[in-house]
Amino acid sequence: MTQTLPLLPKVELHVHLEGTIGVATARKLAVKNNLPFPETILNENGHYKGGNLPDFLVSYDTVAGFIRQPSDYTDILYAYLIDVAAQGCVYEEIMVAPDFAADNGVSYVDFMDALALAIDKARAETGIEARLNIASLRHHGAQKTYELAKTVIANPHPYVVGFGNGGNEMMHHFRDFKLAFDLIRNETNLGIHVHAGEACGAQSVWDALDYINPARIGHGVRSVEDERLMDELAERRIVLEICPSSNIELGVYPSYDAHPFNVLVDAGIPVTVNSDDPPFFHTTLAHEYKIVQDKFRRTQSDCLHYTKTAIRHAFCGDTLKEQLLKRVGEYAETLQSE
Ligand code: ADE
Ligand code: ZN
Repeated sequence: MTQTLPLLPKVELHVHLEGTIGVATARKLAVKNNLPFPETILNENGHYKGGNLPDFLVSYDTVAGFIRQPSDYTDILYAYLIDVAAQGCVYEEIMVAPDFAADNGVSYVDFMDALALAIDKARAETGIEARLNIASLRHHGAQKTYELAKTVIANPHPYVVGFGNGGNEMMHHFRDFKLAFDLIRNETNLGIHVHAGEACGAQSVWDALDYINPARIGHGVRSVEDERLMDELAERRIVLEICPSSNIELGVYPSYDAHPFNVLVDAGIPVTVNSDDPPFFHTTLAHEYKIVQDKFRRTQSDCLHYTKTAIRHAFCGDTLKEQLLKRVGEYAETLQSE
C-alpha cells in the first residue's frame, strides 16, 4: 500500500491579495461588475503578460480595479487560503491595499470585515491561519501613506498585524515616508516591512534601514550588491521576504542560476520563501519552495528552517507562533523517523 507523505509545512509572509487573482477570476469579476477586460494585459497564451515592474503594475492595477463588492474580497482571499492550505501552508500574512478598496467603493471597515470573514471560513475548513498586513502604494506618494496610517490607527483590527508598502520603488524616496511609518511605530504594535532592493539597488535598502527601520524587507535581493549591507542585515536579523520567480519574471535576474538566494543565505541573513503575485508570475507557493530545492540546491530540512524563520519573524502574536512552531515540529519528527 502506498502511503502519502505529509506536505512540507510552509509559511508565506509576502503575497499581495490582488496579486492572487488568476486570469479566469479576473474575467469573471470584470463581467460581474460590468467592466471592460483589456486583452492587452494577456500574452498570446492567455496568461498575464511579462515585463518589468512598472509594466507589471499596470496589469496588476487593472485587475485590482475589477473588484466592486466586499464579498468579492471575501471570495478572493478565501479561494487563495484554500489553495495554499492544500499546498501545505499553515500560516499566511497577506498584504492588502485599502487604497485599492477605497477606489473600488469599499470602505476600510467593510474591507477588513470582508477579509476577516474569509480568514475565519478558511480556518474552519482547513486549519490554516492568516493575518493581514496593510500595504500602502508607494507610487501614490507619501501623503496617501500618511492618511492610510491614520485610518489604520483609528480602526484597529485584531487580524491586522503589519504595515508596509508596495508599488514602484523607483518613485519617491524613503525619507518622504518616514513620518507615516513613525506614526505607525509610535501609535501601534504593528510590524513594519517595506519593499526595497527589488527594482532599485543596495542604496534603496540602506535608505529603508535609515528612514523606516523595518523588521523585514520585501525582496531585498539586491542587497547582494553591497557586502557591508549584507553584514548589517545579518547582524540586525532583518528578514528578507524572497520571491524567486517574481524576480525572474520582472527581470531583476535573467535566470535562477543568477539569483543571489544562496549568497544571501551564506551571508547569514534570515530568509523566507514567498510567491508575491502567483498567477502573474506563473507560480505557486509550493512551486517556490520546489525552486529553492531544485534550483538553489537546498534540502528539505533547509526549507523547514525557512518556514520556521518565517514563523519566528511573523507579525502575529506569540501564542499563535508557538502553535505554528509545534505543528512544524511535528513534521520535522516524521522526517527524522523515516
Ligand atoms: N505589488 C505587487 N507586487 C509587487 C512587487 N513585486 N513589487 C512592488 N510592488 C508590488
Ligand atoms: Zn511584493
